[in-house]
Amino acid sequence: MDKNIDQIHKEALSDLARAIDIESIDAISTRYLGRKGIITQFLRNVSSLPVEERPLAGKKANEVKQILSQALADAEKKIKAQNLISDEGVDISLPGRKPERGSLHPVSRVMQEICNIFSRMGFDIAEGPEVETDYYNFEALNFPKDHPARDMQDTFFVSDDMILRTHTSPMQIRMMEKKKPPLRLIAPGKVYRCDSDITHTPMFHQVEGLMVDKNISFGDLKGILTVFVHQMFDDQTNLRFRPSYFPFTEPSAEVDIRCVICKGSGCRVCSDSGWLEILGSGMVHPNVFENVGYDTSKYTGFAFGTGVERIAMLKYGINDLRKFYDNDLRFLGQF
Ligand code: PHE
Repeated sequence: MDKNIDQIHKEALSDLARAIDIESIDAISTRYLGRKGIITQFLRNVSSLPVEERPLAGKKANEVKQILSQALADAEKKIKAQNLISDEGVDISLPGRKPERGSLHPVSRVMQEICNIFSRMGFDIAEGPEVETDYYNFEALNFPKDHPARDMQDTFFVSDDMILRTHTSPMQIRMMEKKKPPLRLIAPGKVYRCDSDITHTPMFHQVEGLMVDKNISFGDLKGILTVFVHQMFDDQTNLRFRPSYFPFTEPSAEVDIRCVICKGSGCRVCSDSGWLEILGSGMVHPNVFENVGYDTSKYTGFAFGTGVERIAMLKYGINDLRKFYDNDLRFLGQF
């Protein structure tokens, strides 16, 4: 045996210190630990040593073998990790940054949900212009010439005759002009009013509903709206129909639901009344039918209009309407 094991140990480690890639590490492994490797040979030759030297030489050689195997494995690991740093110095082993996933705006969600509920009951969905004529927004809907809603205070005027629609009700006229009864439709969309505070934004969303046929009664209106409220909130939600006034419906009713926050015992949201107003409704006024050429002796119908933001606020317990339009992703991401 020409070299003693301590010397072999030293040489192997200095070879390893110079190794710069996986190939040179493999070569060292073969050179020392391979079938014909230096350490392997050394172990094989232990038996030819004088008897008294054998135990110590064998033990030492096995230790060196182990130390070298470990050092080779460590060096390989280190080189592999270095290879994950690209030429530009980017660590390609780091997990990537997840792209932010968008979500539907709560107003869109609620709007879709309203549309789905009415679709299931056989209502068609119709959309129409946001810039409207005075005729469709007011005149055809039986608004008297001096009605306060026609005032600049409430309505955005584009010109003397053109306005931004103040409600989705003009869609009643547009659809009835196009189609003869029976008619069952909803019209979702943006509406505009010159108003801005905690409970009003100058633009908001409504969903209009209209059903016309022979023998449509106030009972049908109550039935359809009850199903709607039960599906939108839950089937324990009570409703009440409160007499009201709209120029285009007669009789008219506003619909309240039992306060979803306090369940009727009275709280800040319902101003201690236990009820929350969620929509306007009524039987289509005969003057409106006459404006679209429907035979009032043959047909009756009901209409309703609901504020989408209001329903979204109640459904999700949001207390400030303006939050919907701040577009703060921390708020919007919750839906
Ligand atoms: N257009 C009315 C509003 O904006 C709501 C309504 C629609 C009332 C249909 C009755 C029938 O307040």
